[in-house]
Amino acid sequence: MSPDSRELDGLADDLLTIGQVSDRTGVPRSALHYYEEIGLVGSLRTPGRQRRYPRHMIRRITLISVGRNLGIPLADIARALEPVPLDHRPSEMDWQRASQEWIRVLEQRRRTIEQLEQRLTGCIGCGCLSLEACHLLNPSDQLGDGGIGARRLEGQ
Ligand code: FES
Repeated sequence: MSPDSRELDGLADDLLTIGQVSDRTGVPRSALHYYEEIGLVGSLRTPGRQRRYPRHMIRRITLISVGRNLGIPLADIARALEPVPLDHRPSEMDWQRASQEWIRVLEQRRRTIEQLEQRLTGCIGCGCLSLEACHLLNPSDQLGDGGIGARRLEGQ
């Protein structure tokens, strides 16, 4: 976003400083700089090169914060915001689309945690920490399915 100063004059009532945006969203200035650097948010510049954020950017930043609070990677947040131009306020539909995608991410994460839990449960009372047998140390090892211990040596 790089309007000339005439555009800024026309938007003056609708522009916020980085401090105002940080106060209203709870997002530190450094994070706002970073989000802008990677194209997640945009700002305008005054003739003195100070950042000014269109008011609608608050909603975009809030959506990013929700994603971050859920542990959604920035790359996935960026993908969700891709269809929303920087000069548009994310709509309810945009939010619904993002939240549906993030629910899928969280469900996948839950399944992974459940699998890890099952593997950990299998270790309770064992303590072998065997690189060969332990599902946690060697999750894709088929030998681990046969039980604990040095499975390759058995039967030789
Ligand atoms: S400690 Fe994990 S299988 Fe023994």
